[in-house]
Amino acid sequence: MAFSLAVVGAGQFAGQFATLFDHHPGVGSVFVTDLIPDRAKTLASLARLGGTFDSFEHALVSPLVDAVAIFTQRWTHGPLVLKALRAGKHVYSAVPMAMSEDEIREILEVVKETGLTYMMGETSYYNPATVFARRKIAEGAFGRLFYAEGDYVHDMDLGFYEAYQYSGGAQWKRTASFPPLHYPTHSIGGVLGAWDTRATSVSAIGVADHRGDGVFDKATSQFGNDFSNATALFELSGGSMRINEFRRVGYPSHLRESRFRYFGTEGSFEEVATAAYWYTKDGAEDVSAQVETSASLLPDDPSLKNIAPALRDAFVSGYARVHDIDRIPPELRALPNGHEGSHHFLVDDFVRAVNDSRVPPVNAWTAARFTLPGIIAHQSAQRDGERLPIPDLGNGPA
Ligand SMILES: NC(=O)c1ccc[n+]([C@@H]2O[C@H](COP(=O)([O-])OP(=O)(O)OC[C@H]3O[C@@H](n4cnc5c(N)ncnc54)[C@H](O)[C@@H]3O)[C@@H](O)[C@H]2O)c1
Repeated sequence: MAFSLAVVGAGQFAGQFATLFDHHPGVGSVFVTDLIPDRAKTLASLARLGGTFDSFEHALVSPLVDAVAIFTQRWTHGPLVLKALRAGKHVYSAVPMAMSEDEIREILEVVKETGLTYMMGETSYYNPATVFARRKIAEGAFGRLFYAEGDYVHDMDLGFYEAYQYSGGAQWKRTASFPPLHYPTHSIGGVLGAWDTRATSVSAIGVADHRGDGVFDKATSQFGNDFSNATALFELSGGSMRINEFRRVGYPSHLRESRFRYFGTEGSFEEVATAAYWYTKDGAEDVSAQVETSASLLPDDPSLKNIAPALRDAFVSGYARVHDIDRIPPELRALPNGHEGSHHFLVDDFVRAVNDSRVPPVNAWTAARFTLPGIIAHQSAQRDGERLPIPDLGNGPA
């Protein structure tokens, strides 16, 4: 049975998802609301949605709405998710899950109590490298996997200044300093999205920013943050993981903004911006064609802002060969995709979870495993790399 959905936040990222939800055969009407009413009206009209609500709160009390998809600024999700679940709505949330351990614990409690669907839209779960590694793990080809790396490398100059200005208005510098390790899900989610384990402790290093433009400035920052680059080394239950979250980095994030390496006793995988390899003790196999997408980013992705238009078109939409396209409803297949082919899969996961009463792959407990280690890593970086334990919040229902 089709359910109806309200998109909350009609900013830079919501538009394409609103269209995908609207075209999915498992979804009926799609509505939209935004604190800035014109944004909601414009999106409703451009995407021909079912209409607008004049507030999030009105959407929550409406009997027309079964679920919400939250696309508000990255530091706002936890309280909105809790309100929506308590109002009896299923929730799709953009990353990250929340800003604190307490918020995460509360979301887990409410999901358990209500039995409603919660899903976090982590694009790295369907990053082609993650999908490739998941398959190799299932085949046992890594032997014993013991170490992996995830990097999210996106320089502020590649569109993030404009994105934060749009997002934060006149006070944008207060929030453009968002701590890199509080946005850890693209790096951690690509490792733990393939490798079924969890982070148990962490030691992290933050690199204080030197640009001097008032963005990563503790005095201005809403988060008291001056780190623009950060590295964290995690102990896993049965191995180790290193992640990098870089916002000042000479790297072509329009070619690859999340990159992964996985090492096992019998096989390993690694990728750079333009190539990917599978290794065994006998040699190297170039698997670039398996994980290349015909495109990877949306036309309005911040990292494309300073790229020539001709090149920009080459990065829009498409799947990789490793993707299981057959499971995607035909109604979605021809629509724009994004983030290395992941958007169609995320929308489809949520719709199937709600309609079939199934637990989605990136459910609340998985989302906690992708998010909480970064929150604790930021605390470690603030304490000069002190090694800190990461609580186990459990596996959640099967
Ligand atoms: N690869 C990815 O997974 C990926 C990529 C880009 C963005 N994102 C995530 O998507 C989210 C949205 O990003 P964006 O760039 O579109 O942000 P944005 O600032 O452009 O848009 C957010 C919108 O939410 C609205 N809003 C805020 N609070 C609201 C409320 N209570 N009720 C209604 N509307 C409200 C704002 O007015 C704004 O228009 C962020 O959390 C970001 O982390 C994820």
